[in-house]
Parts: sequence; structure tokens; C-alpha cells
Amino acid sequence: MKKVHIKSYGCQMNVYDSQRMGDLLAPLGYEATGGPEDADLIILNTCHIREKAAEKVYSELGKLRQIKESRGRNGSAPVIAVAGCVAQAEGEEIVRRAKSVDLVFGPQTYHRLPQLLKSHAETGRSIVETEFPAEDKFDHLAKTKAKRGVTAFLTVQEGCDKFCTFCVVPYTRGAEFSRPVAQIETEARALAEAGVREITLLGQNVNAYHGMGLDGEIWSLARLITQLSRIDGIERLRFTTSHPRDMSDDLIAAHAENQKLMPYLHLPIQAGSDRILKDMNRGHCAQEYLKLIDRIRKAKPDIALSGDFIVGFPGETEADFAETLNVVREVRYASAFSFKYSPRPGTPAAEMAGQVPEDVKSDRLARLQDLLGTQQKAFNEACKSRDMKILLEKPGRREGQLIGRSPYLQSVYIDAGEHAIGDMVNVTIDAVGSNSLSAHIHP
Ligand code: 5AD
Ligand code: SF4
Repeated sequence: MKKVHIKSYGCQMNVYDSQRMGDLLAPLGYEATGGPEDADLIILNTCHIREKAAEKVYSELGKLRQIKESRGRNGSAPVIAVAGCVAQAEGEEIVRRAKSVDLVFGPQTYHRLPQLLKSHAETGRSIVETEFPAEDKFDHLAKTKAKRGVTAFLTVQEGCDKFCTFCVVPYTRGAEFSRPVAQIETEARALAEAGVREITLLGQNVNAYHGMGLDGEIWSLARLITQLSRIDGIERLRFTTSHPRDMSDDLIAAHAENQKLMPYLHLPIQAGSDRILKDMNRGHCAQEYLKLIDRIRKAKPDIALSGDFIVGFPGETEADFAETLNVVREVRYASAFSFKYSPRPGTPAAEMAGQVPEDVKSDRLARLQDLLGTQQKAFNEACKSRDMKILLEKPGRREGQLIGRSPYLQSVYIDAGEHAIGDMVNVTIDAVGSNSLSAHIHP
């Protein structure tokens, strides 16, 4: 057996892509190993969304070069590959700056990994493959065989045509693309057979999904969810990340009607000021977002709402920031992610006037996170003494304890008794922490 170490950075889609690379490599005799030291193939599956992403990759590559050189002396130098969004953005620059790198390929070319490895073995040359190919990579991926645990990600939509001015995704992942329903259903059935009970449907703009349906018509995400919820063994479905502009009526209705669709929605607004939203090219104002939230809550009153926020976007004043806090106060999020604006090379916002100083960004981020933290705590507190269904996912800290997920995506610690990972159990929530709950199973 050969060994592969895949290190995944960034979003859940990268986690999915890394698993699919593993699926592609298994028939070539590769098994996963926990670290780079004994790997024959090391893949960094990189993220370009924020911060000094590229610099972090170069520094990691510096460390890997030492491993490669010392192992090269006894003839067992590993092959080093850079994949993901930094690979897509940097391309040739990576092999120029980091001579130890053998392969560079992007999110849309990783299905060619077996051929790339073969050509590299034959020629000994480094290869850069970052074109957007004409073929559908999903047609070329191996069937999902590996064990996945009880929850899994499944990419149904990729890329983005929204071009928010801060975001690299349209450049690194390319144009929006929806996989056909039949292809997705086949993958979901394979996951169910492998023991998966909960699937999270992934897409950069997942609710813009518009794939070829089973009847030859274009299907929405809501129709796809209805179809997948008929699969035996799949107990729960989730989807992420959604754009407010694509939150259609049938998807809102699905939250009210489909028992397998979990009451959790990640719906980023990014900022609360209309002027900033406009400069971000989000295509909606704060009031439209708040109205949408109202409609969603009418359909599904207990839904847990989550979002993403950026503070310190170019031109953001204290008054603009105050409007972000206002939106947060109005919505009452169950959880959220918040970031300091980070200029991404090649995006319009990176060139905008009025870049906000770092200390101002830090101050606003701290205040926003304070508020979001309080809301998360309040949401968790409100769960105390409630009865819920929990999917048991993994071992806990103590003997006999398992960790499961609530419908609202909270981690729940449970003394599981006879119950095993993969079971769905009815519990009452006993105690509440800021990041997790604990519960007992109903007798
Ligand atoms: N700077 C800061 N945050 C960003 N995000 C995307 N691009 C940037 C950027 N340039 C955040 C957004 C998005 C999440 C995935 O990352 O909030 O929703
Ligand atoms: Fe980026 Fe905006 Fe597309 Fe989301 S919707 S991936 S933030 S461009």
C-alpha cells in the first residue's frame, strides 16, 4: 500500500473535495495516513477566501521541503501536490516559488489526479493544471466507497455568478454549475448504504441550485431535497450556503413541510448598511433581508438562523457598522461567523478607496462577536428542558458518553447507555454551555 496525506483548509466543500480525492486514489493503492512524515503523496487542499492564505501555504511548503529533502536521501521522497483555491489563484507561481512542488491543480481539475500522478512519475517534471475543463469533473470521479461516518457532505452546486466585490470564489471555483439530480441521487444512495444518516448538501450558492431533474426539466433545490428525502436510511438533510436573493418560496415551504429537512438555515447578510451592501454588490438591502427572515420564521417558527458578517469593508463608517449590529439585534442568530475584511487580489473591493485600518476592524469584530456570542448563548439557554431528537455521531470525552447533533446543529453530550453511533435518540436537554448542550435519553 502507498500512503496519502491530504490536509484540508477552509470550507466544507474542500472537505468534500479531499474525500473525493481519497476515493480517486484508493483504486491506485493509496490509503490515508495521519501526517506528512510517512506519506508517499502529500496534498494541501488550500483555501483562498481570507487572510494571508497564499503565504500560509508557502510556509507549509517550506516545512514539507525539508521532509522531502531528508527522505529524498534514502530514495523515498514524497510527491507534493497543491490543490484547491490557492492553487487555482496562484497557478505557475507556486512551482516557481516552491521548487519542491510536483503537482498544482485546481478545484475543477482534481478528477485528473490519477493521470497527473502518472505523467509526473513518467517525466519527473512538475505539472500545473488550472484550466477550467469542458468536461464535468463529477462524471470522472470514482464512486463513493470509503466509509464516511454517519454524516456526510455532498456537493450539489459549485461556483458563483454573484460577484460580491470582496469575494474570490467566482474566480477560483468558476461559474455557477448545478449537478444533475440523477447523479446526486446515486451518490446519496451510496452514502446511505455506507451508513450515512445525515447529508449536508453543499454549494457556494446552494439555493441557486437549478439542475437537470429526473423528468428532463430544471429542478430547484426544494425539489432536489424532496427527492433525496425519499431515500431510506437518510434521516436528515441540511444545505449550505444560501444567498438571500435565491431564497425561493418553495424552499421556504420545504422547511415547513419536509420533516427530514432540519430547522437550521445559514443565510449570510454580510453587513447591515445599505450603502455597504450596495458596494458589496449583494443585490438586496437590509430591509429586504429582514422581511425574508420574517417569512422564513412564519413558515418555520423554531428555525435556527446563522449568518456570515464582514466588518471593515472599504468605506465602512461607525454608523454603517452600527447598522450591522442593528440587523443582528433584530434577527437574533443562533450562531454566526464573522470576519475582518481582507482584500483579495483581483477582486474589485481590494482596489476601493477607504480601506479601514486594522485596529478599527479588530475593534468592530470584537464588538460584533460579543453580541453574536450573547445571542448564541440565549438560543442555547432557550433549549433547556426541551425534548429533541439527536443523531449520535461520535464518542464523547467520558466512557459511555456519545456526542450527537440537535436539529439546530448544536453538539449534545449524552450518556448513551446501550445506544450506538448512528442511532437517533429522544432526549431532554439538561444543561447548557456556550458551545454545547448535555442531555439524557428518555427511558
Ligand atoms: N474578507 C473577509 N471575509 C470574506 N468572506 C469572503 N470573502 C471575504 C473577504 N475578502 C467571508 C464572507 C463569506 C464567508 C464564506 O467568508 O462572509 O460569506
Ligand atoms: Fe462569494 Fe458572494 Fe458568491 Fe458567496 S455569493 S460565493 S460571497 S461572490
